[in-house]
Amino acid sequence: MKIKFIKSMYLLLIGSLFALVNCADPGDDTDIASSIGLGSPITSGAYDVTSSGFTASWTRVYKADSYELDISKDKNFETFLAGYQAKSLTTFNEEVYGLDETTDYFFRVRAVNSEETSSNSGVIQVTTLAGGGPEPVKALKDAATTFFVGMSVKADQLTSGSKYDEILKREFSSITAEYEMKMNIILPTKGNYDWSKSDAIVDYAIANGINVHGHALVWHNSVPDWLKNYTGTNAEFEQEVKDYITAVLTRYKGKVTSWDVVNEAINDAGGTLRQTVFSEKMGDNYVAKCFQFAREADPDVLLFYNDYSVTTNDTKQTAIFKLIDDMKTNNVPIDGIGFQMHIQYNSPSVNQMETAVNKALDRGLKLHFSELDVRANPNKDITTLTEERAIAQKNKIKEVVAVYNAIPQANKYAISVWGMKDNESWLLPFYDNYNEWPLLYDSNFEIKKAHTGFLEGLK
Ligand code: G3I
Repeated sequence: MKIKFIKSMYLLLIGSLFALVNCADPGDDTDIASSIGLGSPITSGAYDVTSSGFTASWTRVYKADSYELDISKDKNFETFLAGYQAKSLTTFNEEVYGLDETTDYFFRVRAVNSEETSSNSGVIQVTTLAGGGPEPVKALKDAATTFFVGMSVKADQLTSGSKYDEILKREFSSITAEYEMKMNIILPTKGNYDWSKSDAIVDYAIANGINVHGHALVWHNSVPDWLKNYTGTNAEFEQEVKDYITAVLTRYKGKVTSWDVVNEAINDAGGTLRQTVFSEKMGDNYVAKCFQFAREADPDVLLFYNDYSVTTNDTKQTAIFKLIDDMKTNNVPIDGIGFQMHIQYNSPSVNQMETAVNKALDRGLKLHFSELDVRANPNKDITTLTEERAIAQKNKIKEVVAVYNAIPQANKYAISVWGMKDNESWLLPFYDNYNEWPLLYDSNFEIKKAHTGFLEGLK
């Protein structure tokens, strides 16, 4: 009996379910999800709370195109923080700064798409910390979430526990060999490769999860004497270059992400090809040949052309992009361009940077600000780094980083600074050891205002 009862109930249940399903209007083919409407973000709270700011964060909402963030000092949102009344964002977090210490702030967020705006999320209260304490400084690589932050290194700096090691691991996500991955170091005499320094740098990077940008396969300033004074035929010279490029790319395939295949091939004046041992023995199309050699050796590595004064020397800039256009016209593989960015506290302007950057973007190139340093004393008019000049340097770095951070993700690669601390910069010996402070850290490895400028450029 009992079994029968259950059976009839079972049939009743199936029947009612069938009726329910069919009660929906046959013409009502509305997608269930859309009939529910746009969900509200879940505000998972604030982090990095300091005496002057915090980072608000929330969850992604299905079908949202963007989000509107409200921030107020009153929980009823009768007034709003400047810039934070329905501030439109496409990210899932927002770093808010410039706030008052020990003050209550409230934030809420809505999801938005072309058809609707969701209801408000829950309201989160954040109380900023008491002032006076040292502001926790964010690590560069943690603040730059969409591109590598690189630095040039020397192998002997990379000993475990050194100050270089400590700062590199904390702040940087990429490294470039300042000189030890160049031909005169790797192949100092014909046929005798010395991988000791380049391996040390690459092995350090791999051991610490740091990207490696290779610099530089072909450069007229790093030609070993045996090749500079080559006595074989031009064809044999070209084969030596091809063999070198092949050997280096083969050894570091899958370890080194990118290479400056050719460095500084264009003259500063006249926009002409620099006449070097490479152009003399391989012809004026040696740049294209070297990129072909590189691609044949490694189908995946990113291939860059690298040069200086690209943002400030219009003639050179035009010639560089003509060189690249000719390569592209001839289907020569090239992935990116490096602007070395050896600049100064008062130049280039944002407009100059954007003009050059846009030419790279127009060509679909990845862009690497590859050797950033900012001379604070180019006219040798100061003997110490004055507050005023340090602030000007900081603001220039902020401009550089902001210009780079604004480019499309597809074109981003890295911003690399050329050295860690001021007193080790190549600029000092290059300009007769004058008073100069071009980098992010002072001679005691302490961060400068320039470091803060880099972080502010990311906001
Ligand atoms: O460290 C050794 C030292 O042990 C040795 O006694 C001494 C004499 O041989 O040499 C020292 O190494 C020198 C190294 O700088 C020290 O940092 C190398 O000889 C010297 O060639 C090297 O110069 C480098 C230069 O490129 C040439 O490779 C600079 O560091 C480096 O900053 C500079 O970087 C170039 C980029 O590659 C391309 N863009 C321009 C930029 C500045 O010139």
